[in-house]
Amino acid sequence: MSWDQVWIDVNIATMDPEISAPYGAITDAAIAIKEGKIAWMGPRSELPEFDVLSTPVYRGKDGWLTPGLIDAHTHLVFAGNRANEFELRLQGASYEEIARAGGGIISTVKACREASEAELFELGRQRLNALAKEGVTTVEIKSGYGLDTETELKLLRVARELGKHHHVDVKITFLGAHAIPPEYKDNSDAYVDLVLDEMLPAVIQEGLADAVDVFCENIAFSLAQTERVLSAAKQAGLDIKLHAEQLSNLGGSAMAAKLGAKSVDHIEYLDEAGVKALSESGTCATLLPGAFYFLRETQMPPIDMLRQYEVPMVLASDYNPGSSPLCSSLLMLNMGCTLFRLTPEEALAGMTRNAAKALGVEASVGVLKVGMQADFCLWDITTPAALAYSYGVDVCKEVLKNGNLVHQ
Ligand code: NIG
Ligand code: FE
Repeated sequence: MSWDQVWIDVNIATMDPEISAPYGAITDAAIAIKEGKIAWMGPRSELPEFDVLSTPVYRGKDGWLTPGLIDAHTHLVFAGNRANEFELRLQGASYEEIARAGGGIISTVKACREASEAELFELGRQRLNALAKEGVTTVEIKSGYGLDTETELKLLRVARELGKHHHVDVKITFLGAHAIPPEYKDNSDAYVDLVLDEMLPAVIQEGLADAVDVFCENIAFSLAQTERVLSAAKQAGLDIKLHAEQLSNLGGSAMAAKLGAKSVDHIEYLDEAGVKALSESGTCATLLPGAFYFLRETQMPPIDMLRQYEVPMVLASDYNPGSSPLCSSLLMLNMGCTLFRLTPEEALAGMTRNAAKALGVEASVGVLKVGMQADFCLWDITTPAALAYSYGVDVCKEVLKNGNLVHQ
């Protein structure tokens, strides 16, 4: 056998559903890499002979390998911060009240319109580094803090540049319909026209997005407006996803599912009809415990129903300055379990296998098996449940991206 590198002295949480053990685990395993892909994987006792003189062999000190983590929902390109609103909320104001008074998303929009591409890139790079340090190898980044053509394109270009200059793979989502900008305060339909007639064609022309998202909510876009945007995106061949059922139940998830959305995200207020629609279309349910925690929400997403209908559950950070200023994927594994009562295995699937599905990259990443990209992490833990159990001590020892050691 001729391989580029071999890892031994490891246990592997493959997350491959075809391996029946919990976490798809193979204990006392070995894994071989060739040309950035997994070339062999299995119990060490079955490792075929290979040229030990010419092949680097790494020892994992009996730690665990998992697929590289995937954070499938972030807004990590933004300027400014909203610490002042955090203070206001602690004095009694609600997220909705602040948004209606021109704060919230709109205050971040002001900061983004003023920021240069270089400033936004540097801020994004630091945040991407923070996620990468914790084992994230694929991330989704949304625009949505521009709300005019020029700034939306600027944010998307920054996301694209981050992907070019960082080992983390970046999937980009155009979220022009994130909030109604002040200029269109009393005419949201005209803003939707702008998104459809000017922004979306420009985004497509420059090849700046893989997917399109909308915030479907009372304080943002109606069901009808959302459907217009998602239908146009679908027609243009882009993936679609949705911020839905976060503060109320408008039926956005069911509508998006019928259009074939990859995921619907937040979904605290999703009802059974909505869950059924997701299961029929194979749409993922993205749970965002950071926003639930930070906004001190009390309405739980319908986890048991999602399980019952076998809807793939995704966990993501939703990292953004307003509702989830928590730039940590590992923290979400913990919160997914403590706040939403996921099992540690469900939580890890939500940041690996199911997250890959939500981003349409499941053919190459998200589970460890032969032929998949060699994106994986080595953790100094004794059981995979430890990843969700404890938080704060650095247990990420190595990260491989396409077979290259990249851990900082
Ligand atoms: O995912 N829900 C809408 N959008 C973001 C919040 C953005 C913000 O408050 O800046 C979210 O929670
Ligand atoms: Fe979000």
